[in-house]
Amino acid sequence: MAALEQLTAYEEDAVRAIAAASDAAAIELVRIEFLGKKRGRLKDLQALLGQVSAEDRPVLGKRFNDVKSRVEQACADRQTALSKPARSIAGIDVTLPGSPLRLGRIHPLTQTIDEFREIMGQLGFTSADGPEIEDEFHNFEALNIPQDHPARDPLENFYLAAAAAAHGPRLLRSQTSTVQIRVMEQRPPPVRIVSIGRVYRPDDVDATHSCMFHQMEGLMVDRHVTMADLKTVLRLFATAYLGADVHVRFRPSFFPFTEPSVEVDMRWQDRWLELGGAGMVDPNVLRAVGYDPDEVTGFAFGLGVERFCMRRHGVDDIRRFYENDVRFLRQF
Ligand code: DAH
Repeated sequence: MAALEQLTAYEEDAVRAIAAASDAAAIELVRIEFLGKKRGRLKDLQALLGQVSAEDRPVLGKRFNDVKSRVEQACADRQTALSKPARSIAGIDVTLPGSPLRLGRIHPLTQTIDEFREIMGQLGFTSADGPEIEDEFHNFEALNIPQDHPARDPLENFYLAAAAAAHGPRLLRSQTSTVQIRVMEQRPPPVRIVSIGRVYRPDDVDATHSCMFHQMEGLMVDRHVTMADLKTVLRLFATAYLGADVHVRFRPSFFPFTEPSVEVDMRWQDRWLELGGAGMVDPNVLRAVGYDPDEVTGFAFGLGVERFCMRRHGVDDIRRFYENDVRFLRQF
């Protein structure tokens, strides 16, 4: 019976084409060819069925339905299989979850420094940098620190033995005040800069001391700069960083490079914190860089970066910043 043979041929062709379809687009084309309702090979078979004799029709009709549903099923199975990702490629089960990638974070001190620069930038202070290996002129002499001052004791500083022979005495800078000199040497007033960076002192390491830490140095020199400007800038800075009104207090003090000099304290959440030193730039310092102290005045300050950051985040030990313990660092 020609119709039966045609049904068999149809099924064989369909099964082969379904197996050969290698992606979702291909199986869709196969489906349209073999099962399409408007045209396609199934339509042709249906037309053929209409022409067979009445006694053959029940047998052929049943056979037609069986073949059709088998092809439909095979097509649907292949479609499902092709829409799933391959489970295994070269023996690797690609459906297993991957190992999570841990993203790094910006170190809390770097975050603090970036924020300090941003706040001071809004107050008109541009960022300046200086070397961490310094000569005695920039670390001491130009800052009006005389030869016999205790801060120059070799035991209070990290002198570099190797550099001395070739270049004269060199040390790791003990304060960022060096950058005041480097900036003023290079440009005439007015000056309004901050410099944030590392300083080094051979202190005994404990919860509040480290032999390396960070300072933010500020310097403003112009006509008619006063201590009121200094206090305003420090209060605006502390308030911007801590997000609430902060009281700033000056205590009389002494630094060779400022006159008068003060210690700066800040009161926040009912506790006082020592921030660092400040004052009006000593006329000797202005003269050392070729500025005229009768023309311009200036203020300067040097604040501890770690202290601020510890206070804001409730960190109780400065050493945590340098230990690289990711359990600590991941919290910021
Ligand atoms: N350089 C000082 C220190 O490290 C801090 C300091 C005090 C900086 C007074 C200043 C200043 O600019 O005016 O202890």
